[in-house]
Amino acid sequence: MPSHDVLIIGAGLAGQRAALAAADAGASVAILSKVHPVRSHSVAAAGGINAALKPEDTWESHAYDTVKGSDFLGDQDAIEIMCREAPTELLHLEHIGVTFHRNDRGELGTRAFGGASAARTYYVADITGQAILHVLYEQLMKYEQVTRYEEWFTTSIVLDEEGRTAGATTRNIRDGAMEMFAAKCVILASGGNGQIYNPTTNALVCTGDGIAMAYRIGAPLMDMEMIQYHPTTLAGIGLLITEGARGEGAHLYNAEGERFMEKYAPNKMELASRDVVSRAEQTEINEGRGFEDGTIALDITKVPRKRIHESLREIVNVGRDFAGVDITREPIHVKPGNHYVMGGIRTDSEGRTPISGLYAAGETACVSVHGGNRLGANSLLDTLIFGRFSGEHAARAARGMAMPSPSREQLEHEERMIHDVVTRERTGRRISELKAELGSAMDRYAAVWRDDEGLRKAHEVIGRLREEVQYTATDDKGVVFNQDVLTAIELGFMLDNAEAIIMSALERKESRGAHFRMDYEGRNDEEWLKHVNVSANGGDEPEISYSEVTLTQWQPEERTY
Ligand code: FUM
Repeated sequence: MPSHDVLIIGAGLAGQRAALAAADAGASVAILSKVHPVRSHSVAAAGGINAALKPEDTWESHAYDTVKGSDFLGDQDAIEIMCREAPTELLHLEHIGVTFHRNDRGELGTRAFGGASAARTYYVADITGQAILHVLYEQLMKYEQVTRYEEWFTTSIVLDEEGRTAGATTRNIRDGAMEMFAAKCVILASGGNGQIYNPTTNALVCTGDGIAMAYRIGAPLMDMEMIQYHPTTLAGIGLLITEGARGEGAHLYNAEGERFMEKYAPNKMELASRDVVSRAEQTEINEGRGFEDGTIALDITKVPRKRIHESLREIVNVGRDFAGVDITREPIHVKPGNHYVMGGIRTDSEGRTPISGLYAAGETACVSVHGGNRLGANSLLDTLIFGRFSGEHAARAARGMAMPSPSREQLEHEERMIHDVVTRERTGRRISELKAELGSAMDRYAAVWRDDEGLRKAHEVIGRLREEVQYTATDDKGVVFNQDVLTAIELGFMLDNAEAIIMSALERKESRGAHFRMDYEGRNDEEWLKHVNVSANGGDEPEISYSEVTLTQWQPEERTY
């Protein structure tokens, strides 16, 4: 059985940063990913990474912007750590080879981003995630003490008899072989859950696996109702048009030619926080001032053409290939679309979950540094800072600990589950049809606007899909790269994520950040300045509990942009 001090599940930025940190701290590390690491969804991060690095900027200003952006739900102690560490991490990335944009004077250059009081977003054109991910992967290949298990799919986390983390059950995607991994500590860094919505900016791999695996073994999920809709995605397919476009000077217009953000955020305009801009757009669309295809217009022609080709070249390609639009010459139609989950597995700022030996980092985790709404370009930062901390902490914790020897019982259970879905005859709908219905229900009832009635309808759909899952089966009966069977397992993970989102959204009876309840308009700090936690309850209705929001320097105040 492969045995490692630290087993990391997911090889995006959080996972790779955790692996490097754990290896530097002397641990033997395994990093396991269902895709080749450089195909992880971090590769899609476009606009940049925030750090208060310029002499005239301060980490306190970055932290305050983040707290305000979170609608005062973010934990301020964790936000302070993230913002204080940001400049060091950014320079570290530069030193190991990330080719951040430099201005005409040869200095690291920045662009403006939403909700920020200073231009503190560092970037590599509009492929920042890709640039960082490739550099980290190059670094990872140098380390002999890191074993990479590429295209391995994790099906569950294994606990020992005392309830301590002991390893994970996995499937080698190449040949379908099942394997038990033993580990002293496990770090879940498997990204977000955007695929439970349709459309989404998220890659097909973002199915909330880590979040669901932790939930199933009793870890509480926090802030799950906080789902970010990004203001500029392509209608129907959800592809991202980076916020970097607005950072460079692009404007939003309704079909009547009005620059409507004047009404909603007169000071920050298009660079208000994402929840504010998305709600403004959806209001314009719902009140009949959108275009016929249910969109509004993003006019990037305001940005000089040379600058577009230099710093926004990926969305030039997206506009041309997916919308037939030359963004240097004409506006492109966009709408709010699913982008990010602020919630996740509850952790402390070292990445520790309440389950001994289990850590989480990146979008899988909820530290909580984003609270009700994440600021653009804070997610790369979150992955790297808390990825590093969890790697370091797990490596230290593993020292002197005996290697667990997990029983094979759970592996056999997973094998039987997979054998069953592959071999049985399908008597119901295809897996892809169930997934599509889940996506539409979530987009319809748990998006920018919510209410009790809609959320209950979504809950019913989830319950019915759970029943229907029993009658589906894979069409592919083979073992080599059987994606169909992975989609079946992922659907189970997605239903758990969806249930946690809906339960939390029903619970929070106020409007805060990305969670806007039409039946409970307005933020209610007196009753709801607290985190909603949801825990699985052995097959019964999940259990809701609350935890305190940590305030350090900033008292909640009215949030205007
Ligand atoms: O629009 C963007 O470039 C997205 C950035 C982010 O989500 O941080």
